[in-house]
Amino acid sequence: MTSQTTDHRAPVRTERHGDILVIVSDSPPVNALSAAVRDGLEAAIKEGAADASIAAMVLRCDGRTFFAGADIGEFGKPLTGVPLPTLIDMIEASPTPVVAAIHGTALGGGCEVALGCHYRVAVPSAKLGTPEVKLGLLPGAGGTQRLPRVIGIAAALEMIVLGNPVSAKAAAAAGLLDRVVGEGTLEGDAIAFAREVAGKRPIPRVRDRHIEPDPAAVDAFREAHGRKLRGFDAPGACIACVVAAGEKPFEEGVAFEREQFMALMNGTQSAAQRHIFFAERQAAKIDGVDPATPLRPVRHVGVIGAGTMGGGIAMNFLSAGIAVTIVEMQQDALNRGIGVMRRNYEASAAKGRIPADAPDKAMGLLTPSLSLDALAGCDLVIEAVYEEMSVKKELFGKLDAIVRPGAILASNTSYLNIDEIAAATKRPGDVLGMHFFSPANVMKLLEVVRGAQTSPDVLATVMALAKKIRKVAVVAGVCHGFIGNRMLMPRQVEANKLLIEGATPEQIDRVHVAFGMPMGPFQMADLAGVDIGWHRDPTRIENIRDALAAEGRWGQKKGAGFYDYDENRTPAPSPRVAEIIDDFRAREGASPREISDEEIVARTLYTMVNEGALILEEGMAQRASDIDVVWIYGYGWPVYRGGPMFWAKTEGVDKVVAGLERYGFPVAKTLRNGEALK
Ligand code: 3HC
Repeated sequence: MTSQTTDHRAPVRTERHGDILVIVSDSPPVNALSAAVRDGLEAAIKEGAADASIAAMVLRCDGRTFFAGADIGEFGKPLTGVPLPTLIDMIEASPTPVVAAIHGTALGGGCEVALGCHYRVAVPSAKLGTPEVKLGLLPGAGGTQRLPRVIGIAAALEMIVLGNPVSAKAAAAAGLLDRVVGEGTLEGDAIAFAREVAGKRPIPRVRDRHIEPDPAAVDAFREAHGRKLRGFDAPGACIACVVAAGEKPFEEGVAFEREQFMALMNGTQSAAQRHIFFAERQAAKIDGVDPATPLRPVRHVGVIGAGTMGGGIAMNFLSAGIAVTIVEMQQDALNRGIGVMRRNYEASAAKGRIPADAPDKAMGLLTPSLSLDALAGCDLVIEAVYEEMSVKKELFGKLDAIVRPGAILASNTSYLNIDEIAAATKRPGDVLGMHFFSPANVMKLLEVVRGAQTSPDVLATVMALAKKIRKVAVVAGVCHGFIGNRMLMPRQVEANKLLIEGATPEQIDRVHVAFGMPMGPFQMADLAGVDIGWHRDPTRIENIRDALAAEGRWGQKKGAGFYDYDENRTPAPSPRVAEIIDDFRAREGASPREISDEEIVARTLYTMVNEGALILEEGMAQRASDIDVVWIYGYGWPVYRGGPMFWAKTEGVDKVVAGLERYGFPVAKTLRNGEALK
């Protein structure tokens, strides 16, 4: 029973339940540990500790979650309020036991607060995690020292270095939770638990636990994960701190952690990753559209085309529990497409990524058809057919007549003009682009292309739907290639010119991989298919790509492209490609020269930034950070470089402008004056 309620400083209050003091944080949306919350918690803990009639305290949060971490918005600003590590030490030092009562997600600093408490209970749906590494940081409030002391070095490495949360069940099994309580009865159960442990002495403090070093676990972890952590600073620092937890006394370990944390916090990588955290959330906001705009219901989606793209698109909706009707022209193509989808689901289930019954559940929501008429009742229809304007226009004309009024019609085109496609219908306001990236069931990015006449509610509906199918969506305007592919063009043009001038595919790719891209332009061409977009006339050889395509060097699928491949698809520089390049040089009277890596960066990466600035100038992207989101989630731009526009800022506007000028590129106005990088 609540006998008394004291208001400290909003947003933290205390409630007395007999001899138990319940401390409640109420700081929407996610109870981030802002200065006001930290100060409120400090006052509340002091109140409980100073009151002899209080036998134990329970610390819980109102709203959707336990503390989701430090307030990321405060990073990089002068510190106000009690520092988080000090607060946690104070909780741990309390002479009255404190029980953390967790629901939602106890993340980062939130998990560290829980570790500072003497006991931890949680509801079954709760998750605990230390995702700081995803922000280029490490748990910097004692987390790297306390977590290993509770769950061991090996498990702590998994949580801290990979940053993925664990379920309440797994946390309990690992010893991170003392009890999993009822889903709807957290407060009552936590109070009951607090009464059980109130009199136990000594009060258990994580800092007092001893662990042994575990070099074998560290080696095994590095062996298993080293490759994918390439280029990032934070994972190495996280590992060093966890190692220190096994080797150093607690206080020394914490001092080491602090040093490492501050170095990361002041570095460019964390600034880039924090930028992307907010950029991703900002991208969901549509300029000029009221967030309260009523959305159209989307319960049934139609997909036209059961090829790689159509199948992948359909899977997104099926996985989210949304019914899909998929239409193909031929029965065998339909069967093939459906077979691929089922096999993809089954492979995921076999790897344990989805529950064993998920493939049947998802495929049970799918209706295959050979007729467009089957789409009549759909709320949204997405076409993923051949990339040819006349084909698309004819199809949209037909769809307009078949699909119910009010339904949204979307094209998955990667380049074509959405306004022209929309003009083939009598409902241009219901038409937009939904540009998925291959493989569409995996890649997170969705470019949502807003036509001149697209209605605000149609745009808002599709942006909200994107979140439901777990995509990161960015609004793009109508221009050739939209945001991502448009920026790819100058890179491709320059990469090809550089070959003629003296560079090799290996050199250009190496510079891009060293930069942090998953692959360079020529490796990408080989993977995607050198023949994509080829005119199919082997006698018409206008560029190096034509020459490769004419010889059947179509890339990895043929064992030869810009590189030669062995049976394991391992690439090797190709003497034949060198000859072809030489022929072109001779043909164009070019004498090869030494090309520096710096020139490759300026001509293939600065030109992308320049194109990004033009895209902004033309209003084809809402904001520079949206461009960054496109490149991070659609093309594998290294997140620790924050996307092309953020990266240009870290390079320095002057340097980028000078680089572009040195190689004779006209510099976009908003890049020159720095506006595009704001
Ligand atoms: N600080 C500040 N703002 C935060 C925040 C945080 N830690 N976490 C979320 N927010 C904000 C978001 O920016 C968003 O704001 P907006 O509505 O203005 O766009 C709002 O809260 C809601 O967030 P989401 O849209 O992400 O809501 P979801 O329900 O989809 O996800 C979540 C909730 C799982 C908590 C997710 O927001 C998340 O992963 N947050 C970050 C968690 C994290 O990284 N914590 C570690 C912080 S660093 C730290 O603790 C350092 C310490 O070791 C010293």
